[in-house]
Amino acid sequence: MTLGATPSQDLGGRLNYQKLLQMSPVHHPLMATALESVVRGAKVLRDRFQTTLHIETKGLANFVTEADFGSEREIVKPIRDCYPAHAIISEESHSDRADAKDLWIIDPLDGTSNFMHGIPHFAISVAYYRDGQAELGIVTNPIRDDWYVAVRGQGAWHNGVRQRVDAVDRIDAAMIACGFYYDRDRMMQATLDTIGDFFRNNIHGMRRYGAAALDLCNVGCGQYGLFFEYKLHPWDYAAGQLFLAEAGGQTTDCNGLPLPLDQSSSICATNGHLHRQSLEIIEPHWKRLCEG
Ligand code: IPD
Ligand code: CA
Ligand code: CA
Repeated sequence: MTLGATPSQDLGGRLNYQKLLQMSPVHHPLMATALESVVRGAKVLRDRFQTTLHIETKGLANFVTEADFGSEREIVKPIRDCYPAHAIISEESHSDRADAKDLWIIDPLDGTSNFMHGIPHFAISVAYYRDGQAELGIVTNPIRDDWYVAVRGQGAWHNGVRQRVDAVDRIDAAMIACGFYYDRDRMMQATLDTIGDFFRNNIHGMRRYGAAALDLCNVGCGQYGLFFEYKLHPWDYAAGQLFLAEAGGQTTDCNGLPLPLDQSSSICATNGHLHRQSLEIIEPHWKRLCEG
């Protein structure tokens, strides 16, 4: 892994967040704390991956493991130590006010289902917002040692390389990704119907990898032209939407409105060129879903 230009092999231990900081191509006063948090969480996930886990059920097909909690504890600790007055929204156990001046939004394990099934595609997502504006976002896949870092006004960086969205401006030239919320009823059907319509528009393909934070970064890296899902939470997209914005893309809900920080939302995230066309395909299904 590298945040800067030095190859990862030279790191001599990927857990040293101070080295990561030195190599970072972007700068922010809170970067050291953010990196320390993510590095600590990443160690928990690497250590617990493919081990026997205690698993609890949150809802239909929605699980939480001791790794989610362990990662969250490690991520939150440096933030609490350095900035005790800052608010934290974190999926498993922190729900401060979203309108706080200084706000951290954390998903300690995005892609729990993949993690549980031994699939090495999951992430930690940590974002820092000031006065409601995204300042800093880090998404990492701890197994691949992949780092997606963005700071407002300083670009989107993947392993030390600046990223731009795909230039594709036609749906029939795009690779697309989607997500399924934990629903096996009308929302699932609406998602399937939307996928059908995308295919009828001759897309190159549809991918569903199971970690929304990474999906958003993959749009920013130009791999997908767009990503949509009918329900996500702020911790799923808080960091990824900054990454995508800094890479030149656009993120809205399925009505074309900005994403909220205080509640769940639908999401349409694109390279910008495909946004209007994507919403046109998504909107009828989304509207029917909302009308009940
Ligand atoms: C989930 C993943 C998945 C998405 C779900 C999310 P979790 O997050 O991002 O890709 O389809 O809607 O809830 O629960 O693994 O943190
Ligand atoms: Ca998540
Ligand atoms: Ca999670």
